[in-house]
Amino acid sequence: MTHGVREEIGQEARYRHSIGVARTAERLAMAHGLEARRARIAGLLHDLARLWPKDRLLAEAHRRRLALDDFDMAHPVVIHAPLSAELARERFGVRDDGVLGAIRKHTLGEAHMNPLDVVIYLADALEPWRAYDGRAAILDTALRDLDAGMRAVLESTLRHHAARGLTPAPKTLACARAYGVAIPKELLYA
Ligand SMILES: [Fe+2]
Ligand SMILES: [Fe+2]
Repeated sequence: MTHGVREEIGQEARYRHSIGVARTAERLAMAHGLEARRARIAGLLHDLARLWPKDRLLAEAHRRRLALDDFDMAHPVVIHAPLSAELARERFGVRDDGVLGAIRKHTLGEAHMNPLDVVIYLADALEPWRAYDGRAAILDTALRDLDAGMRAVLESTLRHHAARGLTPAPKTLACARAYGVAIPKELLYA
């Protein structure tokens, strides 16, 4: 499975991140009694289209008739998530809808996240090459309790958005609400 992924991703740092996500996803899966293999595959392939320029993301999404919302159109980089799921199917033969769904949801989250979705979402935020204060502590939390890990990552994501004056995606807000995370006031009126 690793064969061809490095070439497809096209950049050493992004490949290293993908390996980090695969390993972290595997650890989280094992800690919570989920299939490590599915988590590893989803982690490895989650960012296949991450380095594509906006024009290519939009063109390839249109070509495949992917449903895009206003947020996607305004922030095309997020389209790399559903497009990476398409590439996992087309170029790596992945037929597991759970794996493809977890890849699709890894960037923005969604109101309804199953355990594999959560493992990939968390692994993307918590793999060792991500450098920010509190990462290791949140990973420890997630290894003990996936819901608590989700709350911590979502809180940190929303704080980051609020501090930078960024508008979170409606899907991310829906995800935060589903986990009972308080939405910072300034984000509600953005
Ligand atoms: Fe990504
Ligand atoms: Fe990623």
